Amino acid sequence: MTQHTVPTELKQRQRAMWASGDYPAVADTLIPGLGQTLVDACGITSGQRVLDVAAGTGNASIPAARIGADVVASDLTPELLAAGRRAAESEGLTLEWREADAEALPFADGSFDVVLSSVGVMFAPFHQAAADELVRVARSGGTIGLASWTPEGFIGQLFAAMGPYSPPPPPGAQPPPLWGNEEHLAELFGDRVRGATAERRHVIVDAFDSPEGYRDFFKENYGPAIAVYKSLADDAARVASLDSALADLGRRHYRADGTSRWEYLLYTVTRS
Ligand SMILES: C[S@@+](CC[C@H](N)C(=O)[O-])C[C@H]1O[C@@H](n2cnc3c(N)ncnc32)[C@H](O)[C@@H]1O
Repeated sequence: MTQHTVPTELKQRQRAMWASGDYPAVADTLIPGLGQTLVDACGITSGQRVLDVAAGTGNASIPAARIGADVVASDLTPELLAAGRRAAESEGLTLEWREADAEALPFADGSFDVVLSSVGVMFAPFHQAAADELVRVARSGGTIGLASWTPEGFIGQLFAAMGPYSPPPPPGAQPPPLWGNEEHLAELFGDRVRGATAERRHVIVDAFDSPEGYRDFFKENYGPAIAVYKSLADDAARVASLDSALADLGRRHYRADGTSRWEYLLYTVTRS
């Protein structure tokens, strides 16, 4: 088993980023059904041992527990796990909530029937290390299931738009939306998995009254957007320029009926 190491300064920063703002409100407002969709795609049944990696507030863990699975919800950010635990308890559900880095999971080899992640593991910076851990903790014949924002979709484009305004990533880190690319996943998992299914789907977002509405909501509530704006704090011109780039993105995706469609890749494989 990989030892769970003391968080590095990078992990501490990422944890603080995800604890900032109000991620529980982001998940509830924008992707309330995504975890259930992933649970359905993985065919989870009662009694299965399920690991949700980068579970946040339990968007996928809680639906899996409702089915009767034995669920471990793991995440880097204890504040989000605490919010998830409260939500689960209010429904009378018992899950294990475990602080863990996706790149060094504190679980034995082959110990889960299903390992899944809903727009979660994609945010671990070192993709191969994280993919190796998903494979390691899944039992032979078990399922690995992922929902990941695609590079071409709305959130992929949001990260592309924020890139030029962001501090440089640590050496070796890869962009999160690459997990939404099927070929990238095939390379990460290699011949340790079989029977890949991949489907591009959309989350329909109807929470905003204007194309810019998402930007103002994200600036206040979504850790990665808060972090980028914070890094620009002294530079009003760059803040205005990023505001404008994000408004453009909103306009490109906003439809006449007031919705926008945010593409993600729903991907499952069987552990060989
Ligand atoms: C967009 S949220 C998704 C949360 C949840 N799965 C959902 O569907 O709402 C991304 C999550 O990844 C977690 N995360 C980021 N880097 C991580 C890492 N290295 N290990 C574990 N969790 C990580 C964050 O704490 C956050 O909860």
